[in-house]
Amino acid sequence: MSFDLSHHGDADIVRGLVDLAVNVRTGGTPGWLAARILQTDLAAYPDQRAALAAVAARHGRADGEVLLTAGAAEAFVLLARSLRPRRAVVVHPQFTEPEAALRAAGHDVERLILPFPFTLDPAAVPSDADLVFIGNPTNPTSVAHSRTTLLGLIKPGRIVVIDEAFADCLRERESVAGHGDLTGLVVIRSLTKTWGLAGLRVGYLLAAPDIIRLLAAAGASRSAVARPSPASAPAGSASRYGTSPPPRHSPRRSQTRDAKIDGMTADDDVAKQISSLEARRYQAMTDGDVETLAELFSPDLIYSHSDASTDSKQSYLDRLASGYFDYGPLEHPEHSVLVHGDCAVVLHDMRGEVLVEGATRVLNSKALAVWGRDGERWLLLAFQPTKYPG
Ligand SMILES: Cc1ncc(COP(=O)(O)O)c(C=O)c1O
Repeated sequence: MSFDLSHHGDADIVRGLVDLAVNVRTGGTPGWLAARILQTDLAAYPDQRAALAAVAARHGRADGEVLLTAGAAEAFVLLARSLRPRRAVVVHPQFTEPEAALRAAGHDVERLILPFPFTLDPAAVPSDADLVFIGNPTNPTSVAHSRTTLLGLIKPGRIVVIDEAFADCLRERESVAGHGDLTGLVVIRSLTKTWGLAGLRVGYLLAAPDIIRLLAAAGASRSAVARPSPASAPAGSASRYGTSPPPRHSPRRSQTRDAKIDGMTADDDVAKQISSLEARRYQAMTDGDVETLAELFSPDLIYSHSDASTDSKQSYLDRLASGYFDYGPLEHPEHSVLVHGDCAVVLHDMRGEVLVEGATRVLNSKALAVWGRDGERWLLLAFQPTKYPG
């Protein structure tokens, strides 16, 4: 059976479309992310340490287990050029590029074509296959193989490559990206889809450090100044910020689950959790407890003051630790806690006193605290007070 591996289907939809399978979010790149990318210093060679650290943290992996790539597509090519499989199997139906990359690198490829409804039995993969490529969730069938099924493919002497380009559609359900313990597992991710970044070419690969080194050597041979990864500086910014984005709003959830209770609009349990986090935060400010605040603050925190100056997480904590800010007891009565998907907004008052460089400043503000869900935790993303007049 022969297939045209370069046929993606775009050209069938609208005449004149270039056939590149550009299935990305509607509305283009979100403004906050585009702004971050545009801030990239183009005059400097890329320093990808922050991006590697952000990607690693996103998946609970070590920095040495991450390779930034020019899209998932480059990851396919690097793997195809670097690995020497004796028996490579590609599980279909799936995106055609992995097979195309393997063939272009001169490998023979066997196809395991799953019949409808496209569920996989790991035993159907030839036992001596030493390289297996599979997509999850799968383009174009949208089938999500279970994590157990995927892990069932792992065996000694075999490399299993899982293309998770669409994994964030499932909010990480069935993702195996966090499995740093499995030496033969390679996970490929893309920022193309969720963030509307097809043109930037930005993705990454997670694998054991020896595989990363092998692939990095193949990529870096193109460009000595781009070590350890071949990604550009703007692509590095996209990886850095796209893997730790601000919370996503979920209007459907807020419409169906929000309830007005005594002036408080909220998903009750989360609202209670946020209120107690706010209590911890204010107590920690009074106590000068930098450790607790470091735990509660998002790395992206923007902390505004009533004189319109702002602090980042680090500058705020540094100032607290140095005694620049010295808070007395603080009252923070809440007007409302609004839970909106992965974002919670606390409208409250802030009253008390703070010594700023030894000078007393009275705090009497209406304030907004914005919390974002980060996996199991909630982190403070922004704080903005407005002084009551007089
Ligand atoms: C399943 C799948 N993996 C990978 C890619 C390519 O991703 P990237 O743009 O990151 O190269 C695509 C693009 O359509 C895809 O559908």
